[in-house]
Amino acid sequence: MIPVNSDRKTVYSALFPQIKALIEDESDLVANLSNIIAALKEAFGFFWVGFYSVKEGQLVLGPFQGPIACTRIPFHKGVCGASYTRREIIIVPDVEAFPGHIACSSASKSEIVLPVFHRNRTIAMVLDVDSDELDDFSEVDSEGLQDIIRLIEKKL
Ligand code: SME
Repeated sequence: MIPVNSDRKTVYSALFPQIKALIEDESDLVANLSNIIAALKEAFGFFWVGFYSVKEGQLVLGPFQGPIACTRIPFHKGVCGASYTRREIIIVPDVEAFPGHIACSSASKSEIVLPVFHRNRTIAMVLDVDSDELDDFSEVDSEGLQDIIRLIEKKL
């Protein structure tokens, strides 16, 4: 168990080996992504956390936890589309200030989106984490989530 008052860096450090163990012996991608999302939601209480997979020339909703969300996002739209197109991690401290942001919920105030790469460096999916607080994400999240993404990439 991770103590509830731990700072985020400590929580990521405790969560990493748990997620590693959780997915190590399982080959099914959807099962692994689902458990990773559940672990993140439980550890941090994020407002919304989930994957959008690259499918049929767009981003399609995958395993997630939180309120119902947009099912399909064009590559040129939103923070998810920007992360896919720029092939980089994007932190948005205030979603209303991000041109083209897709508001799946008006309660979402800040977000971080990270691309997940195949071995051939095409993008398989993006991980989208939304907060109902402004400016809720930092380098700590970027690094902590990137470590978890590397575990997924090894299994793609
Ligand atoms: N806000 C995202 C869309 C996905 S949801 O918030 C779950 C975006 O602008 O890409």
